[in-house]
Amino acid sequence: MAPIQHLTHRTPQVTADELLAGFHPSHRFGEVSFDSYRPDPSQPSQSEAVQRLRDFAAGIGSASGGGLFGRIFGGRRPAAKAGIYLDGGFGVGKTHLLASLWHAAPGPKAFGTFVEYTNLVGALSFRKTVEVLSGYKLVCIDEFELDDPGDTVLMSRLMRELSDAGVKLAATSNTLPGSLGDGRFAAVDFQREIQVLADQFDVARIDGEDYRHRGLPQAPEPIGDGELEEYASSRYGDRTLAVDDFAELVRHLSSVHPSRYRQLLDGIDVLVLHNVHTITEQSLALRFVVLADRLYDKDVPIVASGAPFSELFTQEMLAGGYMKKYFRAVSRLTALAREGQKGEVLL
Ligand SMILES: Nc1ncnc2c1ncn2[C@@H]1O[C@H](COP(=O)(O)OP(=O)(O)O)[C@@H](O)[C@H]1O
Ligand SMILES: [Mg+2]
Repeated sequence: MAPIQHLTHRTPQVTADELLAGFHPSHRFGEVSFDSYRPDPSQPSQSEAVQRLRDFAAGIGSASGGGLFGRIFGGRRPAAKAGIYLDGGFGVGKTHLLASLWHAAPGPKAFGTFVEYTNLVGALSFRKTVEVLSGYKLVCIDEFELDDPGDTVLMSRLMRELSDAGVKLAATSNTLPGSLGDGRFAAVDFQREIQVLADQFDVARIDGEDYRHRGLPQAPEPIGDGELEEYASSRYGDRTLAVDDFAELVRHLSSVHPSRYRQLLDGIDVLVLHNVHTITEQSLALRFVVLADRLYDKDVPIVASGAPFSELFTQEMLAGGYMKKYFRAVSRLTALAREGQKGEVLL
């Protein structure tokens, strides 16, 4: 008989060292670097952030703590703060950059999410956490967020004490440090703590869109499924509409050779698609890519209900070997939908 265990009977003891051994970037960010971050040329704040982080990394562990600047200009320049704080929206690469900083820095160093640090304090006690982390050169805190007064007091003190001990700090958040906690609790009562916290960091704001959707045009407002035909015929009067259910069209495409998709569209002026949804099968997705190209070649406006075309393919597809094809298809279909639903003319 297989031996039986009960998790409820186990109370593992974990030493501080064992706990801290887990404070490194996750597998996904195990190999990232400043070089593998591709700044968006239309968002200057991205390449600026990379440069600031490179400089910051270069200053870690140096005797004066101020990097080259600190050594050359000494007292004439206001000392750089102990911390750098990356502020920006979802998907602009904050975690990528924070992990790149961690990889570039000398040790000992820690990388964890905000919640992991609050848990660490819970497990070790505040004093012990300060004592241990004070021996580190760099402490990286991903997803800084203040949800309650307890965390605010705790993290404010922790950041202050580590900074006083000469530890470099780096954090990411989608909230500016001075606005942390806004709307979550009576943050006004903790302005002093929040200010102390904010004072430990210089802010690098990173603008831009989600890297995974970069360069894609915005989807038009969705149209209700019941209004599609009416909308299309009022808009396109005497033109020829092809009206199809999305799922049926996807199925049909697998029975027509892609080389004939051009003929499939013969004489069609507008495509009306009911209930667009994510295609989960790669072979069907690739056929739809071919159809998208033919629609685009022929400049057929699309009027559609259901999911926006940005959701046509799965995240795995958008990150896989055919990502360029998929992004191109999403971009083209979205442009055709904007033409069909917003009257935009393609260039
Ligand atoms: N400029 C970029 N160059 C290369 N990869 C990027 C870039 N921005 C984001 N990524 C990748 O996109 C994904 C999402 O980025 P992430 O760092 O998690 O964003 P954030 O933390 O700002 O939400 C990650 O896999 C990341 O490696
Ligand atoms: Mg992140």
